[in-house]
Amino acid sequence: MMKNSKRCLSMLYVALSMGCGTVSAKNVEVLHWWTSGGEAEAAQVLKQTLEEQGYQWQDFAIAGGGGETAMTVLKTRAVSGNPPEAAQIKGPDIQEWGRLGFLVSLDDVSQQHRWDELIPEVIANSMKYQSHYVAVPLNIHRVNWLWANTTLLRDVGITQPPTTLQQFFQVAERIKQAGHIPLAHGGQPWQDVTLFEVIALDVLGPEMYRQAFVDNRMDVLSGEHMVEVFTQFKRMHDYIDPNYRGRDWNVATAMVIQGKAAMQLMGDWAKGEFIAAGKKPGIDYLCVPALGTTNEFSYNVDSFAFFEMSRDIDTQAQKALANTIFEPEFQKKFNRTKGSIPIRSDISLDSFDSCAKASKQAFMEAERLGGLVPSMSQGMSTTTYVQSAIFEVVSDFFNNPDGDPEQAAQALAKAVNAAL
Ligand code: GAL
Repeated sequence: MMKNSKRCLSMLYVALSMGCGTVSAKNVEVLHWWTSGGEAEAAQVLKQTLEEQGYQWQDFAIAGGGGETAMTVLKTRAVSGNPPEAAQIKGPDIQEWGRLGFLVSLDDVSQQHRWDELIPEVIANSMKYQSHYVAVPLNIHRVNWLWANTTLLRDVGITQPPTTLQQFFQVAERIKQAGHIPLAHGGQPWQDVTLFEVIALDVLGPEMYRQAFVDNRMDVLSGEHMVEVFTQFKRMHDYIDPNYRGRDWNVATAMVIQGKAAMQLMGDWAKGEFIAAGKKPGIDYLCVPALGTTNEFSYNVDSFAFFEMSRDIDTQAQKALANTIFEPEFQKKFNRTKGSIPIRSDISLDSFDSCAKASKQAFMEAERLGGLVPSMSQGMSTTTYVQSAIFEVVSDFFNNPDGDPEQAAQALAKAVNAAL
């Protein structure tokens, strides 16, 4: 994919700089947003595995859950002709970057290591631009989870965490009456939308969810079921604390870890925080499928794409990183730390915890029964343009005490339509 003139220039540059002995041939600058406790430990696993092979990891971490800020910084760097060698890019954005001609083809490494056979098809397709791999996936996160503090639930006499919306409101009311915060929530648009998404998955079901957030169907986005999603979503507001605005997701998870709040609805990167805090599933905390979504799996796949650079030696380092990510031992170590499950279907989960085993089981069942959906809140179902339009409407509604569910559903359809 590299243009000829660029290649000549790059070779000249390499030759010249090798003569002066200044080239750091094995340097990889990596842009990501893994800065919370659990995330940073997972990033460290990747850095270490790469450095063991003699490469140098140059950290380009941009804080901000969900990666919005990181993507803005990446655009600026890429447009000014100075992209990092590797960047965390997800979902349909991969195609967008591919279309603009920025990405390196990974066909050789993917063929050598049989990616097509080992990556679930729906995910493999999203890593390709015009049938060529341009990104390597690391993991599968499940978004529709509910996390609960076992001690706090027990203290208020609750033996089972809620599994439906109706049960949630009953349990949350009891926890509130007992003087505790039922739901830990961080008031940032992407977190508001994560909460909205799990309710949407329950109320709409997987088929209508896809019609709304993958096919962008106006009748579904503005329809009566969507009005119901907004109505239930609003009720959640009664069970979060008044200081939620601007709070980071991991700070919300820490509230559950420390027993300051009973539950959180969040993807299983939250488990990375429990792990980093030394907590054990089934003992200190519980993971259960989010309200009414036992048979569904909203997936969020982290992936890295590699930018075309002007030096061939950079390509070597990029390919070493892609190979490392796909390597079985790395897959185990990284995903046990991150809270996700491996991207490779041939990896045994014997050394993983019960939440990861449940996640894999749920993925396979959902794939078989049609309950597998791309996460809208995590940028897996649509481009950033449509996603930002949804974020704005949903978050405004949640933070407006006078927000009206019918008007919000109308506004949602309009905003999506304008962003298409
Ligand atoms: C997601 C990302 C996850 C997790 C989360 C919070 O977008 O895919 O790996 O880190 O953001 O930062």
